[in-house]
Amino acid sequence: MGLILLLNGGILDNPPDIVLFLGRFHPVVVHLPIGFLIMAILLQVAARWPKYKPLTIYIPLAWLMGAVSALIAVIFGYFLSLSGDYDEDILFWHQWAGIVLMLMSFGCYFINKKWNNSLSVPKWALVFLVGFLLMFTGHLGGNLTHGSTYLLQYAPNPVRYMAGLPSKVEPRKKVAVLDSADVFLDLVLPMMQSKCVGCHNEGKKKGGLLLTSYAMMMRGGESENTIVPGDALKSELVRRITLPMEHDDFMPSEGKLPLTDQEVVLIKWWIKIGAPSNGFVTQLDTEKALTSLVSNYLGLDKNNLFNKKVPPPDQAVVDSLINRGFVINPLMKDNYFIDANYSLSEYTLEASDMDILLKLKEQLVWLNLGNSKVKDAYLEKIGLLQNLVKLDLKGNEISDAGIKHLSKLENLESLNLYGTKISKGVLELVPQLTRLKKIYLWQTQVTSENIAELKKENPGLTVIYERE
Ligand code: HEC
Repeated sequence: MGLILLLNGGILDNPPDIVLFLGRFHPVVVHLPIGFLIMAILLQVAARWPKYKPLTIYIPLAWLMGAVSALIAVIFGYFLSLSGDYDEDILFWHQWAGIVLMLMSFGCYFINKKWNNSLSVPKWALVFLVGFLLMFTGHLGGNLTHGSTYLLQYAPNPVRYMAGLPSKVEPRKKVAVLDSADVFLDLVLPMMQSKCVGCHNEGKKKGGLLLTSYAMMMRGGESENTIVPGDALKSELVRRITLPMEHDDFMPSEGKLPLTDQEVVLIKWWIKIGAPSNGFVTQLDTEKALTSLVSNYLGLDKNNLFNKKVPPPDQAVVDSLINRGFVINPLMKDNYFIDANYSLSEYTLEASDMDILLKLKEQLVWLNLGNSKVKDAYLEKIGLLQNLVKLDLKGNEISDAGIKHLSKLENLESLNLYGTKISKGVLELVPQLTRLKKIYLWQTQVTSENIAELKKENPGLTVIYERE
């Protein structure tokens, strides 16, 4: 019956519900032949020892149960395939491996029934083949439902390399300031992941297109022009997401949750500027046309820190900082966060200035102390400025002994240590700064081996080690 249905596959373009209903049971039913066939193989092997000889009489029964349940699994599997949601290549091999496995199981049954457990090379070859096919079919079945990387998803990196897979990706930290938003990793890829990869992954490569990584997106799908860098309107992907929803080619298909208008604008812009694989949005968006759109899209307004209501800074404190040579600016219109910059001051920073800064520890989110003769001892107090998001310490005589005091800066996203004396102390510091996205280490005593380790241990981090 299964075979007849298979050969007439074309007729069943609109399978009745009952067929689709039964098909859904395939993943459950397949466990029966797996169990019975493993049992049959074990019995077959065991019965060779005199002690287990009496088991021989059960061997044909085990094979028969394995074969019959395999037949049912094949039929249900065929029903399931009619829903047409699977990668055709893997499906082809899975289907035929399953059918051959089923036929061979019947073969084993007849051989055992006829010739008992007498030893013969062809028979053992057949049993061995059944065992092999069982694993092969099951593996392909797993790939169909979970994508071909499922098995090794949590494997240690060395095992992943052996299988030709890239190293494990750490989940990306949530963006907290617009400046650290990456055009691909924080905008494009998450959109694809939430709305498109359900049908465009290794297991279900609809339209021949994978939307799981930059390389795969650029390789494109069946059309020659899936993404045309620099020309959004010529890109098939843009055409698909901007069609009227009822159009047959509209993506995502099957009434799945479509991209929002914001998302469509962002994708079009990304392609227009050349579909770069990375880059900070604020740097790419030279006309600053998208600033508010992107920060809104990334939910930055809702971000913990910036959502916090802080009291206005004490004007007397602000004035005393200004008198000491600080430039103080409000960071945003509708709250009291401030940006303090000493890098242009003509005065020399003193330890007592740190105490004044501390009085603004709630409001102070950006602090620039570049080339300001900051000493290690000052960093103890700077480490208490808990709301700092951006800290610039470039060109100061500071070392590992000082920066270890920065470990409590849990909001810090950008740290500039260019031109300082720090060395491998960064390796200890960085993991403690859970939100850190960008660190500048050019012209320090951090070696290139340290840099390699830093990058390896903190994959989401951008390390700037050369002149920009
Ligand atoms: C429910 C499944 C499903 C979802 C979700 C889905 N697609 Fe598709 N996609 C398909 C199918 C099926 C095809 C192939 C048939 C066709 O060409 O319409 C396809 C084809 C495509 C193609 C054409 C490939 C080429 O290069 O010729 C593009 C581009 C595409 N999809 C983009 C997307 C994008 C972008 C999203 C997310 C917004 C998305 N798809 C979500 C099912 C889906």
